[in-house]
Amino acid sequence: MDLQFTRHRRLRQSANMRALVRENFLRKEDLIYPLFIVEGEQVKNEVPSMPGVFQISMDQLHAEMDEIVALGLTSVILFGVPNSSDKDATGTGAYHNHGIVQRATRYIKGQFPNVIVIADTCLCEYTDHGHCGVIEGGNVLNDPTLDLLAKTAVSQAEAGADIIAPSNMMDGFVAAIRKGLDEAGYTEVPIMSYAVKYSSSFYGPFRDAADSTPQFGDRKTYQMDPANRREAMREAQSDMEEGADFLIVKPALSYLDIIRDVRNEFNAPVVAYNVSGEYSMVKAAALNGWVDERAIVMEKLTSMKRAGADLIITYFAKDAARWLSE
Ligand code: PBG
Repeated sequence: MDLQFTRHRRLRQSANMRALVRENFLRKEDLIYPLFIVEGEQVKNEVPSMPGVFQISMDQLHAEMDEIVALGLTSVILFGVPNSSDKDATGTGAYHNHGIVQRATRYIKGQFPNVIVIADTCLCEYTDHGHCGVIEGGNVLNDPTLDLLAKTAVSQAEAGADIIAPSNMMDGFVAAIRKGLDEAGYTEVPIMSYAVKYSSSFYGPFRDAADSTPQFGDRKTYQMDPANRREAMREAQSDMEEGADFLIVKPALSYLDIIRDVRNEFNAPVVAYNVSGEYSMVKAAALNGWVDERAIVMEKLTSMKRAGADLIITYFAKDAARWLSE
């Protein structure tokens, strides 16, 4: 046989040989687990569109955190779900010092001081209209919203949040929050910016979980058009200039090209947000017995690492941590 060709299969011939040449890995430290905290007592509501994900009240937090820590996870991101009667036009619940995220943060940092608490900083869960900012004549106003975001971030830092994660896509939100934090003395609290956040249909199940569906219109005037790639670079660049410490790309799976672009262009840690719809689709298929859930989830998460993500916010964090231990 005098054919000339390369024998790629040499490096695939056994499990140990494949392990020797593996290029990308998932670590428990890469995984950030989202928690939905609701008012009330003894609440543990499974989100119908997200099997395995629960809204929990403060009294369930200890057990939840025990489990998270035992699995070897090191960070959580907190979303507050206030009572609808506590919502108002300007989302005051977001920046109360007794707001739900502030209380949950204080509790976790008191009981589990080593866990990294990331506070999602947005208004949509706290406004009665469900938009991420102040409304006037059906428009979401940019600049007046910035003050409220800065106030929210400062109150979260005051409560002990380790990282502030603004997700609302107003222009200048990183600059406003950085200034607010610095003036309040929180110069060491980093900002994990949702720098590149698309107006995505994959957020549907989250809006059930967080009760944050807009009551009119959509978020297309502030979140990005899924068709755009270069615009992602402009968004990431301005956030870097304004002082972002981490860059989030969201969603993850349909946007692996964007994760790679951001990785190549910027040196900040890149975070992929593996969003609710991406979770629900796998769960639905798995519950029907159509796919091997464990294999699919590990392949997806590893693909995000391969695309260039350093960290992944994912509802699969607990499952993946369990599988990584086995
Ligand atoms: C709040 C926010 C959203 C998500 C995270 N923070 C929803 C939205 O923009 O409507 C979505 C997360 C997910 O789908 O898992 N602005």
